[in-house]
Amino acid sequence: MEEIKFLTEGKIVAGRWKIIKKLGEGGMGAVFKVEDKRRKNFMAAMKVESDISDGGVLKLEVHVLKELAPLKNVVRLIDSGQRDKYCFMVMTMLGVDLMHLKRLAGKPFSQSTILRIAMATLYAIKQIHEAGFTHRDIKPGNCVSGLVGGDMRCFYLIDYGMVRAFIQTDKHGTNSLRKPREGDQLFRGTPRYCSLNTHYRKEQGRVDDLWSWLFMLVELHVGLPWRRLTDEREILKVKESTKTEDLFRKCPNEFRNLYDYLNTLKFASRPDYFGMWSECFAGLKRAKGSFLDKFEWEPEAPPPDVQTALSISEKDLTEFKPTKRTVMGKKLYPYASAANFKENILKM
Ligand SMILES: Nc1ncnc2c1ncn2[C@@H]1O[C@H](COP(=O)(O)OP(=O)(O)O)[C@@H](O)[C@H]1O
Ligand SMILES: [Mg+2]
Repeated sequence: MEEIKFLTEGKIVAGRWKIIKKLGEGGMGAVFKVEDKRRKNFMAAMKVESDISDGGVLKLEVHVLKELAPLKNVVRLIDSGQRDKYCFMVMTMLGVDLMHLKRLAGKPFSQSTILRIAMATLYAIKQIHEAGFTHRDIKPGNCVSGLVGGDMRCFYLIDYGMVRAFIQTDKHGTNSLRKPREGDQLFRGTPRYCSLNTHYRKEQGRVDDLWSWLFMLVELHVGLPWRRLTDEREILKVKESTKTEDLFRKCPNEFRNLYDYLNTLKFASRPDYFGMWSECFAGLKRAKGSFLDKFEWEPEAPPPDVQTALSISEKDLTEFKPTKRTVMGKKLYPYASAANFKENILKM
């Protein structure tokens, strides 16, 4: 950490990226908001890592972002490089992560909110899986909203320091599934959110990311029974002994169905993303929610049918038929589109 202390406000990295402020700090480095000296008003996020002894994990993150590049609705890599004492990577500037949004909201998330977060983050997880990687650290701090406008209601996955490729490509360019490694694996993830499989030191597959996703949803909505514990073994004990009905008490019924579904998946299974999305969507309808409902952290919106100064005449007003909220939502948000969840890009 010492080495990157000198990266303070106003400093310029690689002759191009001017540091505006620090956004976050982790064990190995920090994330800053930066401005492009070459493009007026262009802001981006720069992650810096001070441990470059064996290339560090930032190299891996850069690799993953490059592989993600052909996909829609993912964080973009803008620049990367290495200096004497640190590595850096510049990516799309995002908004606020779910851990902070939860704090900002200051009240529990409604069913409409949690089910929409479920769909948005499931889509983000699907995208990294479509690129052939398991993320292995799905948690609120790694799910970040977009920065402006409608994008503020989308969520992106960040922090690729623990990813692992679950596919391999042969010399003819054909993909196949990598065999899960036998024996004990190193622990990768966060004890509060990881799957039982991960506690047992088994190789993680796509299903393990989805276990973390489900635990994250329960935590954000009603809180996990083991949320106050920090020791991994104690967390495991409670995770193993908690009754399913206790875990999902006060949660939408659909979460319980997702739990039963995840229990049927094996390492090699391709999760049925569309089926899981449909379950959440059914929940949203059951809860009479809409893709356009306000999130708890958003300021009060003006009523939808006020007359504005841009309304041209009374006639325009009377003939105006508002678009149905579901239809509007489908146009606006990628996680509201069934087609995005049906798409099978990796075919594996
Ligand atoms: N592209 C980004 N835009 C906005 N904030 C970001 C971005 N990337 C990271 N952050 C913020 O910085 C925090 C730490 O980043 P992360 O990549 O998760 O690093 P770490 O490995 O330290 O957890 C995140 O939780 C988030 O709040
Ligand atoms: Mg993180």
